[in-house]
Amino acid sequence: MKHTHYIRQSYLFCKYRNHVLGIEKYLTGKNVLEVGPNKGALFAQYYPQAKKYTLLEPNRHFEKYYIKLQKKHPNLHYKIGGFEAFSTDETFDTIVMMAVISHIKLDSQSIFARIDSLLNKGGFLIVETNNTKRNLEVFALCDRNYEKIEAKASYSGIMKWLKIDYRNVLIYRKA
Ligand SMILES: C[S@@+](CC[C@H](N)C(=O)[O-])C[C@H]1O[C@@H](n2cnc3c(N)ncnc32)[C@H](O)[C@@H]1O
Repeated sequence: MKHTHYIRQSYLFCKYRNHVLGIEKYLTGKNVLEVGPNKGALFAQYYPQAKKYTLLEPNRHFEKYYIKLQKKHPNLHYKIGGFEAFSTDETFDTIVMMAVISHIKLDSQSIFARIDSLLNKGGFLIVETNNTKRNLEVFALCDRNYEKIEAKASYSGIMKWLKIDYRNVLIYRKA
């Protein structure tokens, strides 16, 4: 799989997005699974606060970044593979799925069922909406089955003003 430069994982952009999103409280002290983390840079500043933070990413190109991050963060784990075939004995307090739902090659019902089976009761799902029409039903299923506790634009300030990206970040709680 080829890797191209991806601005959302650049240092300044990650700082900016974290400032906009303010999701620290959903990661601190939690067993976290992040699906499709790219280089793993977006929420790296919160790795020390998490109890355990696992990255699930199919693109092996990013492994070298995870190995580097692990030297700094012993609680960081990773698995190279897609969400479709992910199997584990673990369940998670928080699942992070930023800009990844549209990439998953399963129907929406199966995606939601897999999320639900991995998420602990009282756990949080942090999910970014799509900029494509693929797998949109996942968000409707989350609305029907979970409590939506936050919804905010993925970007504020100049990024919102430039109208580059209209996605939202939704935070759900499983009862
Ligand atoms: C648009 S990027 C988003 C990256 C990062 N989450 C962010 O918001 O900056 C999509 C990410 O999902 C990964 N991905 C693609 N298909 C996937 C799948 N089936 N399961 C898990 N991750 C996948 C890609 O390799 C990439 O890292």
